[in-house]
Amino acid sequence: MTDPKFPADFLWGVATSAYQIEGAVAEDGRGPSIWDTFSHTPGKTVNGDTGDVACDHYHRYAQDVALIAGLGLGGYRFSISWSRCQPQGKGAWNAKGLAFYDRLVDTLLERGITPHATLYHWDLPQALQDEGGWLNRDTALRFTDYAVTMGRRLGDRVAAIATHNEPWCTAFLGHHSGKFAPGLKDPQAAVQVAHHLLLSHGLALQAMRAAGVKAPLGIVLNQSPATAASERATDRALAEREYALFVRWYMDPIFLRRYPTASGVHLYPQIRENDFDLIAQPLDFLGVNYYTRIWASADEPPQPAPAAQGTTDMGWEVYPEGLLELLVGLKREYALPPIYITENGMANADRLVDGRVHDAPRIAYMRGHLEALSRAIAAGVDVRGFFYWSLLDNYEWDSGYDKRFGLVHVDYATQQRTLKDSAHWYRDFVARQAAL
Ligand code: FCB
Repeated sequence: MTDPKFPADFLWGVATSAYQIEGAVAEDGRGPSIWDTFSHTPGKTVNGDTGDVACDHYHRYAQDVALIAGLGLGGYRFSISWSRCQPQGKGAWNAKGLAFYDRLVDTLLERGITPHATLYHWDLPQALQDEGGWLNRDTALRFTDYAVTMGRRLGDRVAAIATHNEPWCTAFLGHHSGKFAPGLKDPQAAVQVAHHLLLSHGLALQAMRAAGVKAPLGIVLNQSPATAASERATDRALAEREYALFVRWYMDPIFLRRYPTASGVHLYPQIRENDFDLIAQPLDFLGVNYYTRIWASADEPPQPAPAAQGTTDMGWEVYPEGLLELLVGLKREYALPPIYITENGMANADRLVDGRVHDAPRIAYMRGHLEALSRAIAAGVDVRGFFYWSLLDNYEWDSGYDKRFGLVHVDYATQQRTLKDSAHWYRDFVARQAAL
């Protein structure tokens, strides 16, 4: 099989997030976040797993950066723990926390790796949750202060700053299904939270620009095309509704200054005058996270997705064509800025045997998605880079340490890192690009 060819300056990278890898939750003045509270609440996560230690990246970051360099990758996307930098989410800053991200960024730059920072990957300072969290409009203002401080501090050294990672997850999983922190089950609250997240994004972009932050600014959204299980009107209407709730709910306010309508969508947030003007700040880039498509079957029980290329250890259908469908559809519907694929990857039931992890399904997943991505670029979508999720096996939220997404296997008892076959494959794939 020949490799798809990507543009010469395409950025190849890997992604992680703070709570999933750092550990050191009570060290050097870090304040607790809602994920500390949630993961320590009995019954919320598989095996009661918490991020207390995770990959111990807070102490091992230099070794982890060396791994990225060893793979020949040019980009690293990480997130900043707000409560490590500002323990209460407002007021005093924690010099030791800020210094950690200085060291991380400088170590990346010394290794020739371009840092892409995300300000919020779900770990709200618990002190702000105690005042209502994202349901409280004031949290958007607290976030704006945090964004400006981090932007001023790192904006001359990082190549991108994203405000939020996957606001759908914070809103829906955090406040509607309750699967994620803070664990609320209130559909009306969830749409209000989504609105405040979008508002905080727009306010933060505006304030960072006013403060002269140099780095390109954007947001990271999780997105999927929706396929109707059949041609029947009920399935098609469901597909339209799911796409509206998952994708358009975030894209429309940012690009079109409105919330989408679709049959069956009844809950809308309280909106103040000018909110859409605040939200719809121009983006320097859009981060797209893609894992699988939405399969819409109105039957009871629903028709299962065909999954002709299998499912991952999360139970998610492997559907690389969905990435092409999604990107081409977005380009048709919105005036897009440059795009980065900020996450794509799979959980696999990996086993370390004699120092090797033979994760052929992950290699097939990556190859399939990179082929689909190259077709999207050929179709005119301006994609600048790809970050595999994830560098390391890590704390997969409510699934705990059960699900392994890494290119690098982590033995949690010893913190030993071992490159999987997919890591070798990715390194070789990226090296071959230079010769194409
Ligand atoms: C995404 C998250 C990331 C990780 C992957 C598997 O939704 O952004 O933290 O959990 O899924």
